[in-house]
Amino acid sequence: MNAVIVCFTGTGNTLRVCRALADALRAQGCDVRQELLRADRPVPDVAGADRLLVAFPVHGFNAPAPVLTFLKNIAAGEGRIAYLVRTSGEPLSFNDGAIPAPRRLLEKKGWRVAGDLHYVMPYNIIFRHSDGMASRMWRAVLRRVPADAAAVCAGEGRLPKVGFSARAASVLCRVEHPAAHLIGRGFHATDACIGCGLCERNCPQGNIRMEGGRPVFGKNCVICMACAFGCPKDAVRTGVLNGWRVNGGYAFDAPPVSDEEVCGYCKNSYLRYYHSAEAAEETE
Ligand SMILES: Cc1cc2nc3c(=O)[nH]c(=O)nc-3n(C[C@H](O)[C@H](O)[C@H](O)COP(=O)(O)O)c2cc1C
Ligand code: SF4
Ligand code: SF4
Repeated sequence: MNAVIVCFTGTGNTLRVCRALADALRAQGCDVRQELLRADRPVPDVAGADRLLVAFPVHGFNAPAPVLTFLKNIAAGEGRIAYLVRTSGEPLSFNDGAIPAPRRLLEKKGWRVAGDLHYVMPYNIIFRHSDGMASRMWRAVLRRVPADAAAVCAGEGRLPKVGFSARAASVLCRVEHPAAHLIGRGFHATDACIGCGLCERNCPQGNIRMEGGRPVFGKNCVICMACAFGCPKDAVRTGVLNGWRVNGGYAFDAPPVSDEEVCGYCKNSYLRYYHSAEAAEETE
């Protein structure tokens, strides 16, 4: 059996999860091909995939626009099995609002969506989680992927029932898709910029070009935050979203937070998420 994992990522969290899933699928004897959804790469070819995994970060309770565009044009599934793989900064069920649109597009093209794999990963916008939170999130991913990979191989899975509030939040926040182009026009680099070109290379949309040693931001931004997050000099300013800017990678190998140290924001949801992942390991 073979699987194709198509991944859109801004700041690397979703790619990190996809790599762990790919390793777990290979350990199950599955042949895995990983594809990145980026403007500078060919559109992923999913012909012949026994299992298709479409992976993305939740953006404003939605799948990012490039994912929806890819799915609108995807090859016919002819009854083959697909999964959604999501990462999000918090475990709230509002994030389930990101399921219906990509699911509908896949089903319209004849794919059978058998499950939704949702992993919590640290925020790349709004605020910075502690490295200890990131580390505990990552441990939860590693605990969950073996069972998730086994379910994918078996063609099994679960799709949460998406409630009215999550659907409504998703519809309201979809304004982000057209607004992103405008908001992205407000991005610029400060004098701290050293002209390294990393932001240009990191941008999945090909929306940045270097001119005179400085990045110039175009009209195709999807607010993935790769440019601001990855800048070694924290020189990218993100217009009206600048107060929510997060810069610099997480130390996923840091000592994980204890239950008492879990951050106060949505504490109970994080605890439920961690405990369920940790219980899953114990029952394996
Ligand atoms: C524009 C934007 C909107 C986001 N919206 C949400 C959200 O609605 N819910 C959530 O839990 N996390 C949200 N996040 C956080 C990301 O989903 C999370 O950090 C994700 O793991 C990033 O994945 P990536 O590194 O593959 O881009 C958002 C991030 C961005 C940049
Ligand atoms: S990554 Fe930062 S320092 Fe490098 S070119 Fe972009 S803005 Fe300048
Ligand atoms: S300009 Fe920055 S935020 Fe916009 S798509 Fe490119 S990397 Fe992402």
